[in-house]
Amino acid sequence: MKQDLLITGISQLVTAEGPGSKRGRSMHELKIIAEAAIAVCSGFITWVGKESDWTGEPATTVDVGGRAVVPGLVDPHTHAVWAGDRLNDFEARTSGATYESILAAGGGIRSTIRATATKSLDDLVADASPRLKSLIGSGATTIEVKSGYGFTPVAECNILEAILAVAAQLPAQILPTLLIHVPPANNGERANYLTTVCEELIPDVARRKLARAVDVFIEKEAWTVAEAELMLRVARKHGFATKLHSDQFHCIGGVELGIRAGALSVDHLEASGAEQIAQLAANSTIATILPGVSLHLGIRAAPGRRLIDAGVAVAIGTDLNPGSSPLFSTSAALALAVRLNGLTAHEALVAGTVNAACALGLTDTGRIEAGCRADFLVLHGKDWRELIYTLGANPVCEVWIGGRRVQR
Ligand code: NIG
Ligand code: FE
Repeated sequence: MKQDLLITGISQLVTAEGPGSKRGRSMHELKIIAEAAIAVCSGFITWVGKESDWTGEPATTVDVGGRAVVPGLVDPHTHAVWAGDRLNDFEARTSGATYESILAAGGGIRSTIRATATKSLDDLVADASPRLKSLIGSGATTIEVKSGYGFTPVAECNILEAILAVAAQLPAQILPTLLIHVPPANNGERANYLTTVCEELIPDVARRKLARAVDVFIEKEAWTVAEAELMLRVARKHGFATKLHSDQFHCIGGVELGIRAGALSVDHLEASGAEQIAQLAANSTIATILPGVSLHLGIRAAPGRRLIDAGVAVAIGTDLNPGSSPLFSTSAALALAVRLNGLTAHEALVAGTVNAACALGLTDTGRIEAGCRADFLVLHGKDWRELIYTLGANPVCEVWIGGRRVQR
């Protein structure tokens, strides 16, 4: 059969084996093929194997010059659309203020909400575009982007529309999530806003198809488990997948709710303990860890090693946002998960590809295998481990998305 493309000259092709992660899936199952080739037709992979075993006829051959190839990375957790900056927070934190105390005093996320409210859709797109390009250049071929910097349905929908608009300009697969981030600062408005979210915002976002998933931030300074449970119930009723920001500073029941609600993933988990690890191990909700937050805020790293040892499927995201993780590189997030969360390089690759795809509900993404999207990276070196080893330089030489080279 005639193919569009045959990629040859691959020193090592490395991919997770088999379909998406499930409970108990080993994090170690990597397939490494030396002297490999990939055939591509209509944006999808049709054949993978040793170059010498290829017998079909391609339309075009591209030789990558003896370099390593890995699946395109999947960044399952970003907040790439925001306005303003958090440089004053950063400086205050270097003098001892904490992220939570800044938020409690009306700054932090709330200051970003105020700055974002003043921006037009075009401004938001213009600001978000270079951030997403940076993630793509670092190897991300699929990226989840959350709203969450709006205090009104109109502001949240404006952010979701900005995500869709920037997605239309970029080659990556970009998936929008509605994030219900923090309640109004004035406690008297809290119940009203919750009602507005459940009765107006979520139904409106569903009707206008502005997002695929709904996420809620559960924390002492954000929403309670009971409030989040209500929002997730409404979200599910409207056909959304669900996710949670959970156990970032306090372990107050977010993981348990995520499991109860059948969430795709629970994200953060810095404060999770043995009980949460055991519950995740007994269920299929993915544990998404965000090492950029531990680095930037200096908080305890999520227990990646213990989660994996217990049999939990772990994913990794950048959590790109101005306050807790100004990390503009998805491959650096993998590299940090090895240093901070105790993952091996193999595990980091699985967590940043196939498991991260599962955390977004995707089954044709994150692997180099026949039937999957032709999203892959050509590294500078011939050994794939440079992807995880390198700090402060970009180990990614070429980014291919849907069978097209979008960056070199
Ligand atoms: O995932 N902690 C909640 N939300 C984001 C941070 C957003 C911000 O600080 O602007 C997070 O860490
Ligand atoms: Fe986040």
